[in-house]
Amino acid sequence: MSQDTVSIKNNNTGEQAEFSLLKGTLGTPTIDIGTLNKNLGLFTYDPGFVSTASCKSNITYIDGEKGILLYRGYPIEQLAKQSSFLEVAYLLMNGELPTENKLFNFSNEINHHTILHESLSGFFSGFHYDAHPMAMMVGVVGSLSAFYHGQLNMEDPEHRRISALRMLAKMPTIAAACYQHSIGYPIVYPRRDLEYCENFLNMMFSLPSQTNAQRDKQIDPITVKALNLLFILHADHEQNASTSTVRLASSTGANPYACIAAGISALWGPSHGGANEAVLKMLMEIGTIENIPKYLKKAKDKNDPFRLMGFGHRVYKNFDPRATIIRETCHEVLAHFPTDDPLFELALALEEYALKDEYFIEKKLYPNVDFYSGIIYRALKIPENMFTVMFVIARTAGWVSHWLEMMAEPTHRISRPRQLYTGYDKRDYTPTNLRK
Ligand code: CMC
Repeated sequence: MSQDTVSIKNNNTGEQAEFSLLKGTLGTPTIDIGTLNKNLGLFTYDPGFVSTASCKSNITYIDGEKGILLYRGYPIEQLAKQSSFLEVAYLLMNGELPTENKLFNFSNEINHHTILHESLSGFFSGFHYDAHPMAMMVGVVGSLSAFYHGQLNMEDPEHRRISALRMLAKMPTIAAACYQHSIGYPIVYPRRDLEYCENFLNMMFSLPSQTNAQRDKQIDPITVKALNLLFILHADHEQNASTSTVRLASSTGANPYACIAAGISALWGPSHGGANEAVLKMLMEIGTIENIPKYLKKAKDKNDPFRLMGFGHRVYKNFDPRATIIRETCHEVLAHFPTDDPLFELALALEEYALKDEYFIEKKLYPNVDFYSGIIYRALKIPENMFTVMFVIARTAGWVSHWLEMMAEPTHRISRPRQLYTGYDKRDYTPTNLRK
């Protein structure tokens, strides 16, 4: 990493100081302002972290202008076409693609950890049947910390590796259990003879009365392929809100399962991972193609809180490369599962309208990955309230990779931002009887 400097001058006082300009392998040069307060008595103000790099990372690179997304240097397009989700998870966690042998061992280890402790399985019955699956995910994943805490030595890289593996392995089991609980069926146990995505589909859709042979028959290869692809596209996205939340919580040395639960909470919001569910809700609200102009008008109205869900991105300003890939799959999946669902036609019409609209063109608002992911999940018969849970399964690979990276740094510090205080100046307490 080469180093230049940047001078910052306070025009009010005339004071000036030099700061290192850090240059990564790719991307925008970054001013190291860690000593700004010490040298000039100033803080920086950047709500939403629009111009702030919160850490150094080797994992994922995004170029928002050019629509580039690299995992450990590999373009997302190549990984999406040629690899499996577990191979990508291995890559993210370990930095290199696995050999055949390493992938086999990794897959076996994941399979070994898919089972939940029987006491944890009991937690689901504490939730009402209509609890949102994301609420159950936050609770159950957080509860994993109660099962793996005392014996966890975070200084030991092997302990950290096993913790990361466990989270990746158990996430589909917990996700499917949330769904089975919501429809009143018993939890389906994971099977060692199935691959990651097949296992999830089996746990998600098996009926209590079915034999394994019947269950195997309903695992459709196109669904498995689509799921692998969606999971790869959602696996990591550098310092997004949920990953930053995981890093922030982890910086205190907190239990990793609790930190991942914090990440799940951050992902749930409709501006982030909750967008895929919000897209479907929005399409239902729009209802018909004739209503699209009315809703586009609402989306452009500053006094109306309505936003076009699945459009826009903080980083991508020309196109979201994940959306380009997923759009193709969307058509494949819809061709494989022919449907007369009017929402698909409506989604395609909405996309066409928005892409031609001056407001969306000028503000560089394009369909993001979650505009299409909800449509595919719906075609795959995944219920709408499970869409964001699907995102959780995939993003766990990214969260644990960032956690592993951070915990391996010898000098990681607690994250503790400062603020621009805008409250009262110091004032004196008055007893209640004297208050007006
Ligand atoms: N519909 C209408 N107007 C929009 C939209 C939208 N979806 N997104 C942004 N704008 C407008 C916004 O009002 C603002 O206008 P102005 O410049 O006049 O104030 C301008 O575009 C810039 O928007 P912003 O809110 O400052 O952008 P941001 O970077 O803070 O927010 C976003 C990014 C993704 C939260 C936002 O675009 C959004 O709310 N999109 C809809 C939700 C969504 O699809 N989220 C999923 C993101 S992809 C999955 C993931 O990675 O989590």
